[in-house]
Amino acid sequence: MTGNKRTIIVLSDAQAIAADAATRLQARIAQTSGPVAICITGGESPAPLYALLACEPYRGTLPWHRTHWFIGDERFVPAHDPLSNMGMARRLFLDRVDAPAENIHAMETSAGTPTAAARLYELELKRFYGRDELDPGRPLFALVLMGLGADGHTASLFPHAPSLHERQRWVVGVNEAGLAPFVPRVTLTLPTLASTREMLFLVTGEEKRAILARVLAREDLPASCAYSQGALVWLLDRAAAPEEHDGG
Ligand code: 6PG
Repeated sequence: MTGNKRTIIVLSDAQAIAADAATRLQARIAQTSGPVAICITGGESPAPLYALLACEPYRGTLPWHRTHWFIGDERFVPAHDPLSNMGMARRLFLDRVDAPAENIHAMETSAGTPTAAARLYELELKRFYGRDELDPGRPLFALVLMGLGADGHTASLFPHAPSLHERQRWVVGVNEAGLAPFVPRVTLTLPTLASTREMLFLVTGEEKRAILARVLAREDLPASCAYSQGALVWLLDRAAAPEEHDGG
């Protein structure tokens, strides 16, 4: 199923978003048996969710042994750098739970170039998936988390970037970020991110309200171009939600 139909859900605040996202993540994992892949994201917005996953009941009940954690985009900095997206996820939850080291699929960002790192990560994704081509009937991920940048970017897909039109590569290097932090990036492409049973955008805070209104109006911005083979859900807090969506 190609689900470009968006479900927009407005909740009270960032904690409510985190709680809802954690429930969805758990439910998506529970729909599977055997190894399952989740694609997480960087930025500040997912931090409350990650903190929640390190606490009960998730800490004790998620099937960590069969859950594999991939990252949708990464800043091209060493793994221990405070800017590292996977580094943040490790600090907030992956290092605090029983996730086996081999289930944490970080990008190789300490050597070479963003493009070389992209090639390596593409191979890693293909190895997990067991095929070189994505089959719309068999999504790579059970859940893909996404954020929204102030310029309308998502993952490291910035406005007007050629990477937005990439259809062959699963992962690409981005030599120049469109927004701070201005370090090169590595990002999954739109078709790869779309290969999921559910794509879940997490958007919180008043500073996101203006750009969110433009994305929800389907202006030509990267986040508006994101699609999903399965469900496409936008979780907004009341501060971020444009008036017509705030339910108030
Ligand atoms: C990154 C992200 C990026 C992020 C948005 C939103 O590496 O910066 O993956 O796409 O999701 O910029 O960031 P905030 O959640 O911090 O607003």
